[in-house]
Amino acid sequence: MTETRPRYHALRHVSLRQMKVFESVARNLSFTRAAEELYLAQPTVSMQIKKLSDAIGLALYEQIGKRIHLTDAGRELQAACRDILGRLEQLDMAFSEMKGIKKGRLRLTVVTTAKYFAPELLGLFCQQYPGVEVSLKVTNREEALERIAANEDDLYILGQPPEELDAESAPFLENPLVVLAPRDHPLAGKKSIPLKRLAEEPFLVREAGSGTRQALERLMRKNGLKLNIKMEIGSNEAIKHSVAGGLGLAVLSNHSIKLNASSGQLIVLDVRQFPIARHWYIVYRRTKQLSVVARTFLEFLHQQARAIVDGRVAQPERPAGAKRQRRAGSRGR
Ligand code: PGA
Repeated sequence: MTETRPRYHALRHVSLRQMKVFESVARNLSFTRAAEELYLAQPTVSMQIKKLSDAIGLALYEQIGKRIHLTDAGRELQAACRDILGRLEQLDMAFSEMKGIKKGRLRLTVVTTAKYFAPELLGLFCQQYPGVEVSLKVTNREEALERIAANEDDLYILGQPPEELDAESAPFLENPLVVLAPRDHPLAGKKSIPLKRLAEEPFLVREAGSGTRQALERLMRKNGLKLNIKMEIGSNEAIKHSVAGGLGLAVLSNHSIKLNASSGQLIVLDVRQFPIARHWYIVYRRTKQLSVVARTFLEFLHQQARAIVDGRVAQPERPAGAKRQRRAGSRGR
């Protein structure tokens, strides 16, 4: 008779508990952080990893100084642990659903411009589904793409589909990028400012991995222009304060200029080819089997995101005489 049971020679003695511990160590690259995350003592974590490594017969990590680096075997195991534990989590959620409860975890990564509505959206979602636990990561485009490639989350919100990855993406809201200036700037109140005039102004831009920055640079390049970059600043909030303080101009998501301390001191300039019409996209890996909770959130997002954003995007004061900015994404230029 043929043997139908699967054989896992190297994995015979590996337990789920060890996989959970290893997944946490590999993600955090730290025994201490894994111990904190799992509410375990650090020696317990070290012992579980040692048993796992002995059972497999390969080293899973190297320690160089205080830092942990995964070996090739460690990286393979990390990917497998993610798949296996993710699948079990999904199964758990599916069983909960069969019992009529929406329960489980949602892992969401969003680019920084989406942080102006994502927490509110998640808040409403959790009110509606109290059994759902959410983890939200806010980062720039580059890191979000790395997280998609590493299959770290269920869903992602990006400012542009990730062409380089095998992923499903659907636009769900407009995300126009506008030019911000301090209210007493000489260009304030001018109409149809030519794009090349921007090249003469000192600019404050986000870090290189930022999608906002990439969109601005793409527009300038397309028009044969180069930005006069005065400063790189890794935060939309700090950029707004710096613009208000007169350090230069900046291009940011219109959503990022909602009410805050500096918004009264900022204006949107009427520059040709602006706003840059962009959208937010909800993204997931094509090969990923979405959990019940992730699918529920996807539907919720399509139904609720607009309602949350509508009426919440503050229109910074425009100088008298300047054209009202048209609705997001409606300008063809
Ligand atoms: P980011 O946000 O500038 O933080 O990368 C991005 C985007 O809208 O692409």
